[in-house]
Amino acid sequence: MSKAIVSTAIAGALLALGSQAVLAAPNWGKVPKRDIHVFHAGVTPIEWATKKSDHSGSAGMRKGETCAGCHEEKGALNFSFKRLADKELEPKGAPKTMTFPVGFQAAYDKDHVYIRLSFKAPGGGADKGDKDSEVKAAVMFADAKVPQAAQYGCWQTCHADARSMPGADEKKTKYSKEGAYELMQWKSAKGAKAVDGSVGAERKMEGGTAGVKAEGAKSGDTYTVTFTRKNPGEGKAVPFGVAIHADHAHGRFHHVSLGYTLGIGADGDIKATKQ
Ligand code: HEC
Repeated sequence: MSKAIVSTAIAGALLALGSQAVLAAPNWGKVPKRDIHVFHAGVTPIEWATKKSDHSGSAGMRKGETCAGCHEEKGALNFSFKRLADKELEPKGAPKTMTFPVGFQAAYDKDHVYIRLSFKAPGGGADKGDKDSEVKAAVMFADAKVPQAAQYGCWQTCHADARSMPGADEKKTKYSKEGAYELMQWKSAKGAKAVDGSVGAERKMEGGTAGVKAEGAKSGDTYTVTFTRKNPGEGKAVPFGVAIHADHAHGRFHHVSLGYTLGIGADGDIKATKQ
């Protein structure tokens, strides 16, 4: 073989490898999994969480403590769920299962971040407002302009006057007062498109710029949902949260995670694995 032919062969092989790295999902067997526990948060918007007479954690929040710092112990949540299961914080009726674990894995390469969620979606919901999708799974990434995003997670988008809160305007969606979140969601309804949206001054279920792809499947009683999106930038720790709508739930009747940071080539509560 002449030199030229050898180098062409190598270039071809590299090219093939290169395009595969862009298109192929990560080898999930090599990506560590940890459980993130999601819970039914009832009517506990940011206005509730920051009000002294409602939430005994509000003083610690003012000092910079994170939600997970106080409420996560040994990887699980320490809520008693007494108030959350009661009329006080859930006037409409709470779901039978208040909390469940979601297996969380994250990986990245130069161009993309990949997130895989695996979970058993519980039945026994109190709201079945979504006739089309039995299950929806969402992840939101906060941008750098959202104040205290790493501390409060998605609670910065959760307000007392937003739709499906008691007495609120049914047209007002969740919103962020400053900055915005990128929203990606997978829906179990047949033929449903992946949501590539945002939550800024209002929530938009399309028009996002993260190039979201989502795939999901149910095997036995376990859902596995994989998201692919644009890498927001290596060296960043991105605040994020997870939400699962189980049993045809809609609006605020989801199970949500507290806020965590995803380290992309950086430290974080969870470090994405480099591919
Ligand atoms: C400094 C510690 C601290 C921080 C930070 C904190 N909390 Fe709390 N939280 C508490 C304490 C203490 C209670 C009262 C415990 C109880 O009522 O069982 C509480 C109660 C709650 C409850 C009611 C639980 C139940 O069992 O009914 C919810 C919901 C809650 N917190 C959510 C949050 C969220 C969301 C954040 C962040 C936006 C947060 N907390 C931040 C300490 C904290």
